[in-house]
Amino acid sequence: MDFFKWAAPFYDLAMKVVGHGGSLKQLMERIEPAAGDKLLDLGGGTGQLLDYLPENVKVTLVDSSEEMLVRAKRKERKQKVKYINARGDNLPLPDDTFDYIVVADALHHFTKVDETIRELKRVLKPGGKLYIMEFDPETLLTRFISGAESLAGEPANFYSPEELSKLVTEIGLKPEIDGISKSLYILQGSK
Ligand SMILES: C[S@@+](CC[C@H](N)C(=O)[O-])C[C@H]1O[C@@H](n2cnc3c(N)ncnc32)[C@H](O)[C@@H]1O
Repeated sequence: MDFFKWAAPFYDLAMKVVGHGGSLKQLMERIEPAAGDKLLDLGGGTGQLLDYLPENVKVTLVDSSEEMLVRAKRKERKQKVKYINARGDNLPLPDDTFDYIVVADALHHFTKVDETIRELKRVLKPGGKLYIMEFDPETLLTRFISGAESLAGEPANFYSPEELSKLVTEIGLKPEIDGISKSLYILQGSK
């Protein structure tokens, strides 16, 4: 089953019910891009992160699900946005392009996580920053989400903050961990 093909029509409503917007807002409060900065939203889905971005940022939203992208494109945006249907492990984007990359609540849905982080490092500008918002697999909430997603055929590739820090370090980014809640954390990786 293609999970996001099935979930796309319900996604925005479901995320509203669980208060996903609050987490995205907290994530963006840590980033504060300047006018003209280029930001990649990988696994951007229906584009919910864009609700919390200033208008003068140049956004590229990449997602592997055409159904999620269709919904992202329907929304009116104050930012200049480019939409691309692609996988994170094979980005059709040039080297050293982005000031910021955000992967919000998406990495655990990816199958080739190592290759994806390598691609993100490649397209990040020197001095640029990668932000990954993920669920900590040690908590009860994440165990529940992981079980439900596995049943739906998703990879449920949940990394602990320590495991993700180790991975991004091996790939050549400098990690820092910041907690948002008991279950959610943000990894910041600097190039
Ligand atoms: C839970 S949604 C998160 C969407 C958005 N970031 C948000 O916070 O609302 C996960 C998204 O990751 C996308 N996705 C899954 N695997 C992917 C991959 N390998 N490359 C790019 N996007 C992927 C899915 O299509 C889906 O839109």
